[in-house]
Amino acid sequence: MSLYATLVLANILCLFDQSLAASTPNIVFVLADDYGYNDIGYHGSQIQTPTLDKLADSGVKLENYYVQPICTPTRSQLMSGRYQIHTGLQHGIIWPEQPNGLPLNSPTLADKMKEAGYSTHMVGKWHLGFYRKEYLPWNRGFDTYFGYLTGSEDYYKHTRGFKFTSKAYLDLHNEQGPVKNESGHYSAHLFTQKAIDVINNHNEKKPLFLYLAYQSVHGPLEVPQHYEDKYEHIQNKERRTYAGMVSAMDEGVRNVTEALKSKGLWSNTVFIFSTDNGGIPKVAGNNFPLRGHKGTLWDGGMHGVGFVAGGVLKPDRAGKVSKDLIHVSDWYPTLVGLAKGSFNGCLPLDGVDQWDTINSGMPSKRLILLHNIDPLHQRSGLPLYPNTWDTSVRAAIRSGSYKLITGDPGPGDWTPPPDSSDEQPKSNDVTSLDKSLYFQTETSSLKNVWLFNITADPTEHNDLSEERPEVVKAMLTLLSKINATAVPVRYPPFDPSSDPAQHGDVWGPWE
Ligand SMILES: *[C@@H]1O[C@H](CO)[C@@H](O)[C@H](O)[C@H]1NC(C)=O
Ligand SMILES: *[C@@H]1O[C@H](CO)[C@@H](O)[C@H](O)[C@H]1NC(C)=O
Ligand SMILES: *[C@@H]1O[C@H](CO)[C@@H](O)[C@H](O)[C@H]1NC(C)=O
Ligand SMILES: *[C@@H]1O[C@H](CO)[C@@H](O)[C@H](O)[C@H]1NC(C)=O
Repeated sequence: MSLYATLVLANILCLFDQSLAASTPNIVFVLADDYGYNDIGYHGSQIQTPTLDKLADSGVKLENYYVQPICTPTRSQLMSGRYQIHTGLQHGIIWPEQPNGLPLNSPTLADKMKEAGYSTHMVGKWHLGFYRKEYLPWNRGFDTYFGYLTGSEDYYKHTRGFKFTSKAYLDLHNEQGPVKNESGHYSAHLFTQKAIDVINNHNEKKPLFLYLAYQSVHGPLEVPQHYEDKYEHIQNKERRTYAGMVSAMDEGVRNVTEALKSKGLWSNTVFIFSTDNGGIPKVAGNNFPLRGHKGTLWDGGMHGVGFVAGGVLKPDRAGKVSKDLIHVSDWYPTLVGLAKGSFNGCLPLDGVDQWDTINSGMPSKRLILLHNIDPLHQRSGLPLYPNTWDTSVRAAIRSGSYKLITGDPGPGDWTPPPDSSDEQPKSNDVTSLDKSLYFQTETSSLKNVWLFNITADPTEHNDLSEERPEVVKAMLTLLSKINATAVPVRYPPFDPSSDPAQHGDVWGPWE
């Protein structure tokens, strides 16, 4: 080949590369932790979130958006596009002592983005298993990783307690191994800095996929003092600290979006912000006026904060509010679709592509949403429709506007934000809080079927189950049909060999 021909070819390849980059957008997904419905400015919160408000106003607010009631389930559905009943993760979180993980039998969102030619990076909380090397985020589609493998770390020390000894061990890693020199660096700052490093080092020959999963605003309640100083008007100390934590996250998002803009990436970026589940009033999060909280099947546990922004959205979508039913499992097909990727090798997805709904206002293709079926949750009450569905089993499902709950949904109170100094929290111990959240049962009542029209009654005050038995029956039949596709629950016993003391005083694979 002549030199000229070689040069022409190189030019064509280069052009092809650039047009590939231009035709598929950068995708930046920011996930907040335990961030309540009533903790964002535009929902009328007492907490100020100028960055999130402005970003949401520049794009589409998702106001009929659902996540899962707890952490691992939401993250597993984001990464797999599949319901918990199809991954075996229907019961709870993945505890760090459990030999468990998001099954390897279907590719992750990151696998698919990488396959579609993206440069893929994750910063923050994984929580999808790490007992064997294959489950680590950098072996599941991410080119680089920096963050926590499990949950409930200390914001400064980046440590997490081991159940059997109560000793705390480091849980901060990158794809090369444990990161031991960042103690004292508040995680909202640290993760923001790492995300900005990814953006600044990004080679624009490829599109960027960045998944930034903040620790903020999960307990423990910790924040540098100056963030909470501006909330002197909030008298409750815990709520004030929590508000400061939200402000630190809001500032982190500002810094990340500014980095995307200075690098010139924003105009070709889809930016998504989402919570992982509802807030916990006991650790100062708030979902009012929604009913219930994190860990429950009431809407306060899973009707999440979420919006989409970025230069890729059509200009006339700015300021739009979507009332369409959208679920966290929908991001998988939506984002792989935007990446012009393939679904080869995927087990059947439960998510639907929502891009036309988000970017063009077309009606959502999602008519049914299975919130969950958890056969291991303690049963509650009598099986009322035994030939259709055992109503003592914990489950919830949406069909159009109707929501049906069976079994024990968890505490269903409506908790306004604390404003007065006489309200003291019951406990600051997150581990025992976690336990009461995940294992609490409403034994006081044997009632185990509820039906709501969520469109008319988003706060779940008006139970229709007695008025509309035919709707109850139809939805139980639907639940039973979907249940027939469930896989067995993976919830192995805690393994003492997970003890970090046995492998370098760091959380990590032990099998
Ligand atoms: C920790 O080490 C990494 C890698 O050497 C370095 O990039 C980073 O700046 C260090 N952090 C601190 C706080 O010194
Ligand atoms: C955001 O950037 C400002 C200016 O560099 C810095 O002072 C602040 O700590 C950063 N905040 C976070 C959460 O990273
Ligand atoms: C759900 O399906 C499983 C497995 O097929 C079955 O064992 C269980 O009884 C079903 N649950 C209910 C409440 O029907
Ligand atoms: C639910 O409520 C909405 C709003 O009031 C109403 O338009 C709709 O018809 C109701 N759905 C059903 C199935 O009754």
